[in-house]
Amino acid sequence: MSRKLMSLLILGVMILSLGLAGCGQKNATKTESKVLKVGAEMTFPPFEFQEEGSKEYVGFDMDLARAIGKQMGYEVQIQNVGFDGLIPALEAGNIDIIVSGMSITEERTKKVAFSKPYYKSGLSIVVKADNATIKSFKDLEGKNIAVQIGTTGAEEAKKIKDAKVREYNSNSEAYMELKAGGVDAVVNDLPVNEYYLAKSGDKNAKLLGDIMNAEEYGMAMTKKNTELTEKVNAALDELKKNGEYDKIHMKWFGKKAQ
Ligand code: ARG
Repeated sequence: MSRKLMSLLILGVMILSLGLAGCGQKNATKTESKVLKVGAEMTFPPFEFQEEGSKEYVGFDMDLARAIGKQMGYEVQIQNVGFDGLIPALEAGNIDIIVSGMSITEERTKKVAFSKPYYKSGLSIVVKADNATIKSFKDLEGKNIAVQIGTTGAEEAKKIKDAKVREYNSNSEAYMELKAGGVDAVVNDLPVNEYYLAKSGDKNAKLLGDIMNAEEYGMAMTKKNTELTEKVNAALDELKKNGEYDKIHMKWFGKKAQ
């Protein structure tokens, strides 16, 4: 084969592959669907949960996530992920955003980027209705406490002197343990405790007045995806302005946000 023919051949192959690469790129942009993969742990009513006998994911966070997706022009796909598996799932790229009543903490801020705060919360205690000894966080010293794994409630309970903290995968299990008498108290987010007492029909439990830690919920994304964080913040602003946020708040809490 002559040198000239050889170089012509090489040139031909180069042009061909360039063309193909171009095609590939074109196709990629064409099929790029705008999907927002949302992760949440579903035993946290009224923020995210499943109504008995239903597979649908409902709650304040779920409505808000869907409204944000719609505002951004994204199709929202929701996944149920264990609470302690949410940040790893985000880091692995299995989900794009966590909308799961996740409190903005210094520790988490080291790993993820949070949206603007979207809900004010705090921790509180549920005990048996006939419990006369536990009235505050201070009284939890040396007691058995049930919490959900990976939560701020778990973290705070572990700081209490001599407390034996039992960590459950779901909140339902923590409340069940209290009902069964296996623990003295459940430490969980105030609105979730309130909802439990209002809706569960558990007449043998009560909520204590002592509330700890003003916490704020944020939606968590990877630090790399700054574009998504900006879009989510803009959508959140818009939903607050156009009354959609208030509507969703009203639906789940029976009142407007203060
Ligand atoms: N706010 C608490 C935290 O960030 C509890 C959140 C639990 N959320 C859930 N979907 N189970 O740790």
